[in-house]
Amino acid sequence: MKKDLLGINDLTKEDMKAIIARAIAFKKDKGNTSYRPLVGKTIGLIFEKASTRTRVSFEAAMFQLGGNVTFLSTRDTQLARQEPLADTARVLSRYLDGLVVRTFAQETVEELANHATIPVINGLTDLYHPCQILSDVMTVIEKKGAMEDLKVAWVGDGNNVAHSWIEAAATLGFSLSLACPGGYGPQPEVLEPALKKAQKPILPFEDPAKAVEGADVINTDVWASMGQEDEAAERQKVFRPYQVNSELLRLAKGDAIVLHCLPAHRGEEITAEVLEGPQSVVFDQAENKLHVHKAILAMMIK
Ligand code: CP
Ligand code: NVA
Repeated sequence: MKKDLLGINDLTKEDMKAIIARAIAFKKDKGNTSYRPLVGKTIGLIFEKASTRTRVSFEAAMFQLGGNVTFLSTRDTQLARQEPLADTARVLSRYLDGLVVRTFAQETVEELANHATIPVINGLTDLYHPCQILSDVMTVIEKKGAMEDLKVAWVGDGNNVAHSWIEAAATLGFSLSLACPGGYGPQPEVLEPALKKAQKPILPFEDPAKAVEGADVINTDVWASMGQEDEAAERQKVFRPYQVNSELLRLAKGDAIVLHCLPAHRGEEITAEVLEGPQSVVFDQAENKLHVHKAILAMMIK
């Protein structure tokens, strides 16, 4: 039966470790262009929101593995003219070998997956960004070794990226502290099951200093995600105390690393000094999306 990747909860701990191990192997083997397991295969990228990294890294990953990609901006497909998702999924399954979907509602990727006979991969929804977290965890493992003994801090919005970090903490078993302003924390439908499953503490705070204290990894993201443009001005005010700056970074361990999935807004959620500073690993993190996406495609596309 085909397998989808709609959220981190679709993966076991062993699955996550296997994808990351494969990605690390791809990274080591970077110069090898003879491994082409996906010759003759084509994936579709249905993107309803902007993307630089996810789109290009999935495209490059598929090409490097010998396959092809067709990019489907929703405004150019019949989805823009209300063709049902179920029909789209069934038709595309006759042409393609997999779909990567970036959209608003999680229900959209679920509906596509329910009707497709090919794997559907979530390339970001309002609720989750699972592929991103696999690259983030790979980056932490590269820099710090095993996750289990680390303390990870999330500072800022309790958004799609935070949600996937929460599910990763529960699945992999590492400690995660989140500092989010009141009313902007993670959704209970994500947090509560994770708290039940977790072996290590997942601690929500409002005070960023508390979340960051003694952390090995500090992670942040934009204050207004795609689709929240109308709230951006209000969020600027609310999130101001949640900026990742050198003062906040001093509360973490001296060798803490800083992650940001990018794109970043310097001077908002993170200062240029921290983003460009010696503790920032954001460009390795961005590169790792390519290796992780190669691993996902090599393991999921049949
Ligand atoms: N991190 C990430 O998903 O970037 P893009 O929006 O550029 O794909
Ligand atoms: N939370 C951000 C992530 C972008 C990669 C957004 O959804 O816009």
